[in-house]
Amino acid sequence: MLPEIRFISGLERGAQMEMVINDTLAEDIDPLSAMSTVAAYIFAFMERVNWAGFYIAHNETLTVGPYQGQPACIRIPFGRGVCGAAALERRAIRVDEVSAFPGYIACDSSTRSELVAPIIIDDKLFGVLDLDSPEPARFSDEDERVVQRVANTLAKSIARSNSPALITT
Ligand code: SME
Repeated sequence: MLPEIRFISGLERGAQMEMVINDTLAEDIDPLSAMSTVAAYIFAFMERVNWAGFYIAHNETLTVGPYQGQPACIRIPFGRGVCGAAALERRAIRVDEVSAFPGYIACDSSTRSELVAPIIIDDKLFGVLDLDSPEPARFSDEDERVVQRVANTLAKSIARSNSPALITT
């Protein structure tokens, strides 16, 4: 059974979110189930987030994966927008004001800030974890560290899942 979403007073929301995600990913689960559940936990725990989900890398293109939020664009070429930049550069990118980001791809016009973390397995880019917010500069240094750790934990879970066909780029 999945851990219940309930907030323990005195413990920061990001820390609580990491606890339940780590518990969930400690079991061997299918990558699709893992990504769907991680997207749902991020969306449930993180306040002022209007989109949370995955883009999966294949042939220099990102294709949308499991997510929570408004319908989003299906394909993003490497190098385009915040997700494409994070995929190309294989590093987390945090944007305080998306309208100032060159090539920004507006999926939801209410989005003002964005945080994208790469998911790397065996030196290959599996995809990216993307979070959007309607609030400018919503994401902190600590949020970036938490989200990158979640991406790293998910990478280990997918690597263990014996689904090599998923990891292509
Ligand atoms: N805004 C992103 C596109 C994906 S959506 O936000 C879900 C970008 O510029 O890469």
